[in-house]
Amino acid sequence: MINEYQTDTLTLPSPDETAKFGLLLGQTALPGDVICLDGDLGAGKTTLTQAIAKGLEVPDNPPVTSPSFAIFQEYQGRIPLYHFDFYRLFGPDDVSGLGLDEYFYLSGCAVIEWPRRAAGLLPAEYLCLELRVLAAEARQVFCRYHRQRWAARWRSLTEKFALSR
Ligand SMILES: Nc1ncnc2c1ncn2[C@@H]1O[C@H](COP(=O)(O)OP(=O)(O)O)[C@@H](O)[C@H]1O
Ligand SMILES: [Mg+2]
Repeated sequence: MINEYQTDTLTLPSPDETAKFGLLLGQTALPGDVICLDGDLGAGKTTLTQAIAKGLEVPDNPPVTSPSFAIFQEYQGRIPLYHFDFYRLFGPDDVSGLGLDEYFYLSGCAVIEWPRRAAGLLPAEYLCLELRVLAAEARQVFCRYHRQRWAARWRSLTEKFALSR
């Protein structure tokens, strides 16, 4: 059987490249998408979320910021953006206790920082991007995505990204 998931890696050599990549990702996002952003503090998860928001046509004001204290923020764009930051939660019981997992199944695009805290609650059809610091300005991205939902979009996204460089 073909694996349900595929993987890829990508380098984002500067914040500008992260902005370009996130913009393209936001532009291609569909209702019900779940995008997990894994990686340490300072890896660039919120920076990437801001670019995705731009691609979703979320207005600049109020700015998309780290919702660390709020845990969850919803923004209106071409489709809604549900931005989660589970850093302050211990695990899936907290996520479900707050009823936040219901948003993973609504018609916006969910972007989740610290997605491991929601282990077991995430829909199978996710895209996960793990950001790792390579250098002050450079990030490596390890991607894992649900083949059926994402493979075609991922291919066109990475092609467009390569052309934009
Ligand atoms: N290539 C890059 N992509 C994303 N952020 C970068 C990059 N290079 C440097 N940075 C910086 O790293 C920091 C990432 O912070 P942030 O996005 O808040 O991280 P996180 O949400 O993962 O904790 C920002 O100050 C950003 O400007
Ligand atoms: Mg953050």
